[in-house]
Amino acid sequence: MTARKIIIDTDPGQDDAVAILLALASPEDMTVLGITAVAGNVPLALTQKNARIVCELAGKPEIKVFAGCDRPLQRPLVTAEHVHGKTGLDGPTLPDPKMPLQDQHAVDFIIETIMQEEAGTVTLCVLGPLTNIATAFQKEPKIVARVQEIILMGGAYFEVGNITPTAEFNIYVDPKAADIVFKSGIKLTVMPLDVTHKVLVTKERNDAFRNLHSPVGTAVAEMTDFFERFDKEKYGSNGAPLHDPCVTAYLIRPELFSGRHINVEIETTSELTLGMSVADWWRVSDRPANAMFMGDVNADGFFALLTERLGRL
Ligand code: BDR
Ligand code: CA
Repeated sequence: MTARKIIIDTDPGQDDAVAILLALASPEDMTVLGITAVAGNVPLALTQKNARIVCELAGKPEIKVFAGCDRPLQRPLVTAEHVHGKTGLDGPTLPDPKMPLQDQHAVDFIIETIMQEEAGTVTLCVLGPLTNIATAFQKEPKIVARVQEIILMGGAYFEVGNITPTAEFNIYVDPKAADIVFKSGIKLTVMPLDVTHKVLVTKERNDAFRNLHSPVGTAVAEMTDFFERFDKEKYGSNGAPLHDPCVTAYLIRPELFSGRHINVEIETTSELTLGMSVADWWRVSDRPANAMFMGDVNADGFFALLTERLGRL
């Protein structure tokens, strides 16, 4: 199979960082056309910087990193320092990046790339709030029909919510943007909390990263060491959930994941359930299916793949 052309839209975030490392370690599966940063886990000034730190950690300073929207479409920004730490990448000590930030705005890069590449050949891998993507669709609606697929981390059904009782963080931060994307008609593959809470970095899995004895292996072990305290305290779980790497792992081994092609709509008005992903898992409505909504994952297969690929960097 030829490598899929992808743009990674992201708000690093330790789990975003691991997703990016997995992509950069897998050139036979995906060609990273660029990385677009968005405000989310931490403000934009930090997410764009963290994206460059991660590229340098991977030994790929030639990757183009763009800064995008610094706030959601219609709401003030909500961040998640309580999960990711002050920098968004707390855990390892990594040097400030030397590679440049591109001058072009991320939204313009997304539009230009999708218009220039052959129609139906660019996949958007979205690891944060959907602000950059929805803004690009609003600015140049012609790109919508040209996107091959959107694979995103966001939403929940059985797990309901992590930032509010009913909403997952990426959708909650910018529900309007998520609504635009879920209504776009583009082929959507969704990695909700139902899946990502099953890929936990247990002690053995963390040891496997550390035992790579490389700067990448050590940094990933230290990131997940830091990141796990939140979920351990909150859910009593066995380790950090690697939410965002599910997106890039799917491009390499889609058979690790299973789910249902169903209707998913986003709540954009209710104060109580704002940002809820209303997933018709049981197909009780006659609303048309618009997303492949994953529900299960082969976690051992996922970690075997991730550790092997990180070992290449
Ligand atoms: C999502 O929110 C962020 O905290 C993570 O990076 C992930 O993208 C999980 O709800
Ligand atoms: Ca993220």
